[in-house]
Amino acid sequence: MYWVQANRVYTEKVQMNDGHWIPGIAFGTYVYNLTERTGVYQSVITAVEGGCRHIDTAYLYLTEDLVGKAVENVIDRGIVKREDLFITTKLSFRVLTRAQVIPSIKESLKRLKLDYVDLVLIHTPCDVLGLKPGFPKKSECSRNHTLEVWKGLEDAKRLCLTRSIGVSNFNSTDMASILADSDTVPAVNQIETNPTFAHQELVAYCQSKNIVVTGYAPFGFLVSRPFNDLALPPTVDDPFLVSQAEKYDVTIDRCIIPIAASLKPEHIKSNMRTAGFALREKAILRINKYDRNVKLPAKSAYYETFQSKDVRLLIDGNILPIPAFGTAVPVNQLKDLRQAVLWAIESGWRTIDTDVNEDIIAEAVNEAIRCGLVTREELFIIARLPLEVAKRKRVVPALESTLKRLQMDYVDLFIVNSPLNLSGKKKFNLLDLWTGMEDAKELGLTKSIGVGNFRKEDLISILPYCTTKPAVNEIEVNPTFTNIELVEYCQKQAIIVMAYAPLGFAVPRPEVTKRPPPSLTDPVLVKMAKKYDVTTAQVLLRYVIERGTVPITRSVNKNHIKQNRDILNFTLTDEEVDIINGYNKNWPVYPAEKRLNDYNIKMEHASRRNKKLY
Ligand SMILES: NC(=O)c1ccc[n+]([C@@H]2O[C@H](COP(=O)([O-])OP(=O)(O)OC[C@H]3O[C@@H](n4cnc5c(N)ncnc54)[C@H](OP(=O)(O)O)[C@@H]3O)[C@@H](O)[C@H]2O)c1
Repeated sequence: MYWVQANRVYTEKVQMNDGHWIPGIAFGTYVYNLTERTGVYQSVITAVEGGCRHIDTAYLYLTEDLVGKAVENVIDRGIVKREDLFITTKLSFRVLTRAQVIPSIKESLKRLKLDYVDLVLIHTPCDVLGLKPGFPKKSECSRNHTLEVWKGLEDAKRLCLTRSIGVSNFNSTDMASILADSDTVPAVNQIETNPTFAHQELVAYCQSKNIVVTGYAPFGFLVSRPFNDLALPPTVDDPFLVSQAEKYDVTIDRCIIPIAASLKPEHIKSNMRTAGFALREKAILRINKYDRNVKLPAKSAYYETFQSKDVRLLIDGNILPIPAFGTAVPVNQLKDLRQAVLWAIESGWRTIDTDVNEDIIAEAVNEAIRCGLVTREELFIIARLPLEVAKRKRVVPALESTLKRLQMDYVDLFIVNSPLNLSGKKKFNLLDLWTGMEDAKELGLTKSIGVGNFRKEDLISILPYCTTKPAVNEIEVNPTFTNIELVEYCQKQAIIVMAYAPLGFAVPRPEVTKRPPPSLTDPVLVKMAKKYDVTTAQVLLRYVIERGTVPITRSVNKNHIKQNRDILNFTLTDEEVDIINGYNKNWPVYPAEKRLNDYNIKMEHASRRNKKLY
């Protein structure tokens, strides 16, 4: 077959324009489908065992953590030393300023468990932006952004966070603008190159500037791609390719370093063996004739998290399953909570927002795991910092106590749930407290850290100074409290808004006698519900999703629990979202004083339930 290879480990290296050497073949860790993500760990190990020394990852692929673990594995087992490996990663495309570059690379290094990477690339010159709420729009990006980010990469190189710096998906105009305005020439341009998209002019341009081209998707349409039905020649049984492969017992060579990705051990091993032969120029020219200038459609796990119905990507690279199941039930329903959480897990809920009730959640989760309904890794557990904690040094001990109550080694997200102290007046020193949250993340006690009920001014008091940005802000969002400005501000900062009380006053609220519209029987909502063959509650939950936020909804009713998760298969129109926005009265279900009062009542019950734990 086309990619039958010579039985030799590829060790050739190419010297880049900065003097460093790059191995001649890379192993790619991009996955089309997030469900395949975990396979990357074993495939990187197989690739290194098979002789590959160059691993290619990116923030966007959501595989840096798995590459990190695999690299740790092969180093620990003495298969390679760190200095034998060449690790490439790429910046998130949310990085648009010079100042954002170093923190972003430091986050990547943490996931990769490395002190430095060998190569960092700008992933794209802004052309994939503007996809969803909260992400930079194309109009906000310009050539200046690219130059700014390039300066940031130069800073990172000076600080030895990376040995080399380069770009990806840059055309010759993008390349020329960097070359004109900067002192450092990119060492690499990583672009798509395969028989149907040979990119001959760009390859020639880069090579004329002494820039190494690494080619992704080298098999082009030769291999099946899950997201298109194009079947362009050449195919795997193309007679010319087969004859060449048989002649050399090898694959093609176009002076381009291929980045081949595979999760199949037999492919990984054979792909690593492409050295020791060269196609004749005539054969290369013949393969170039397949060029149709047809690019593979852009698609990756990262896009998937935008478009994916059931997960969101957090700014730190962790993945949040949606929607979230709320557990802050009134105290008279605490007796029903264990069963409700079990029903929720059974119906597919994976994100559980705990409250002052971790002991009950622990019982339910342990039972679900024992019954084989779910594994701990599949769950996303959110916990909150107790409101009494106001100082950095008390954060880690507080989370350790929470973990004891939850009977877990880590939580997925830990939240500072209020910028106010228990009297509801004095503000904490939020930055000091947030540093404690960063300590907790650093220690691995929580995977992500976030905030709750933070207003814009509270966020501003930490964002410019913190090392790790809050991944989420848990705030109230519903028709009577649309919270539009704060939602938009968070989204601009790439902070995911988790929307609590999404059903607003449409459902009974014990302390409120007169509720503002809409109710669940509101004719406008009923009409929308009929149109999509759903309930009015589902319309309201979908409304917060259309706003780019993640609903946290609770119920102890089995039917409601099932129904509330079934909101991922229809979408409201922009006009319908505007109509629902029209109910806004800036009237929250949970004003600050109510939240603090509820907290005190729940604490009293919790310590009565189990003095030792609370
Ligand atoms: N961070 C914070 O400060 C904060 C503050 C408040 C809330 N939260 C979080 O957000 C979660 C949700 O807020 P919330 O408690 O106000 O929740 P909500 O989901 O807006 O409202 C819950 C109420 O709606 C009813 N309900 C649920 N699904 C329904 C359906 N399909 N049809 C009709 N009625 C339905 C429930 O009754 P049934 O049980 O009968 O279904 C319950 O009475 C909380 O549990 C908590 O995790 C966080």
